[in-house]
Amino acid sequence: MATSTAKLKVGLVGCGGISRVHFNGWDRLYPECEVTAICDILPAALERRGGEFEIPREQWYLDHRDMLRNADIDAVDVCVPNGVHAEIAINALKAGKHVICEKPLAPTPAEIRRMIAARDKAGKILMTAQHQRFERSSQNLKAYLDTGALGEVYYCRAHFLRRRFLPVRPSFITKGESGGGPCIDIGVHILDLALHFMGFPEPVSVSGITPCKLGKRKDIRGWWGEWDRERMSVEDFAAGFVRFADGSALSLECSWLLNIREREYQRIVLCGTEAGAEWPALTVHGETAGCLTDSQLAFPDDRADGHHTELLAFARAILKGEPSPVPSEDSLKVLRILDGLYRSFEMGKEVKV
Ligand SMILES: NC(=O)c1ccc[n+]([C@@H]2O[C@H](COP(=O)([O-])OP(=O)(O)OC[C@H]3O[C@@H](n4cnc5c(N)ncnc54)[C@H](O)[C@@H]3O)[C@@H](O)[C@H]2O)c1
Repeated sequence: MATSTAKLKVGLVGCGGISRVHFNGWDRLYPECEVTAICDILPAALERRGGEFEIPREQWYLDHRDMLRNADIDAVDVCVPNGVHAEIAINALKAGKHVICEKPLAPTPAEIRRMIAARDKAGKILMTAQHQRFERSSQNLKAYLDTGALGEVYYCRAHFLRRRFLPVRPSFITKGESGGGPCIDIGVHILDLALHFMGFPEPVSVSGITPCKLGKRKDIRGWWGEWDRERMSVEDFAAGFVRFADGSALSLECSWLLNIREREYQRIVLCGTEAGAEWPALTVHGETAGCLTDSQLAFPDDRADGHHTELLAFARAILKGEPSPVPSEDSLKVLRILDGLYRSFEMGKEVKV
C-alpha cells in the first residue's frame, strides 16, 4: 500500500460467514494493516477464525466493549448481523476508532442518522462496505459515466433477482435481527450501485410492494437448504418506483424467491438522452446519424476483488486523512428509499422519503 510507515491495527467484530472474506482482504494488506483483535459472542466462532488466522488468544473478546477498552487498535471492522451494526459502530466511534461496517450500514434511517452524529462528534471515518462499488468493472463504468457520455440520465432499472436462494440463517430472515429481507440483504447492493452510477440524486418519494408470498410455504425449496418458516418475518420480494428531486426515476426489483427463468441475475440499466448503458454487461446503446449503435466496454485491468479493494480504500483514507470512500450520507439515501418501500406497502400508496 505504501502510503505511510504507520501500521493500521484493526479489531474485527463478528467472526461469521463474511468475516473470512474480510480476514483474507486484511491479510493481503499486511504488513501495513493487521487484524490484531477479534470479537464474537460465540466462543466457537472465535476458535474458528482466531485459529484459522492466527490471532493471539489473549486478543479474543466475547464483548466488543471489552475489546474497545483493552485492545490496541485504530479501526473496527463490523461484520455482525444488521440489527447490531449501529450499537457496535457507535461504541467504536465513541472510543475514537475508525469504522468500516458491512452493508447495510444499518437497517433503518434513524440508526444511520445516529451513526452519522457519532461519526461527526468523533471526527473519525465511518464507511459502509459496499464492495460492488470497488469491483474494477464498476469503477471503470463509473469513470465512463462521469464523462457525461449518456447525456441526462433520467431513468434507471436496478434488478437483483434470485429464483430460489434464500439465506437460511435467522440473522437474515427475522425482522429483529436483519431489519428486512432481500431489500436489506441484496437490494442494498444493487440500489447503492445504481445510485452511485446516477450520481446519488436526492430521493423524494417511493411507491412499491414488499410481500412474502413464497417464503413461508412448506412446499417451496431453496438451493441453500431449509429455513424456519415459522420464524421467517421478512419479505421475500420487493418492487418499487422511486422519484428524485431532479425529475429522474428508478425502478427496483429484488428477490430471494421468485418464479422466474433465471437462477439469479443482477442488472442495472441506465437510460440517458445521448445513450444508455448496462451493468454488468458493460454495454452502451445509442444512435449516430440514424444508425443504432451498440458498443461493448472492455477494460484490460478488470480483475480487482471488490472486498479487498474496499478495505484498501478504507485504510488509505485513514492513513492519508481523507474522507470516507463510501459516505454514510449515501447509505442514508439508500435506507430512506428502502424504508419508504416498506411504508408504501403498509399504507398502499406512494410515500415521501
Ligand atoms: N458484502 C457482502 O457481500 C456480504 C455478504 C454476506 C454478509 N454480509 C453482511 O455481513 C454481516 C454479517 O453477515 P454474516 O453472513 O457474516 O453473518 P453470520 O451470522 O454468519 O455471522 C455473524 C457473526 O456475528 C456474531 N455476532 C452477533 N452479534 C454479535 C455481537 N453483538 N458482538 C459480536 N459478535 C456478534 C455471530 O455470533 C456470528 O458469528 C451482515 O450485516 C451481512 O449483511 C455482507
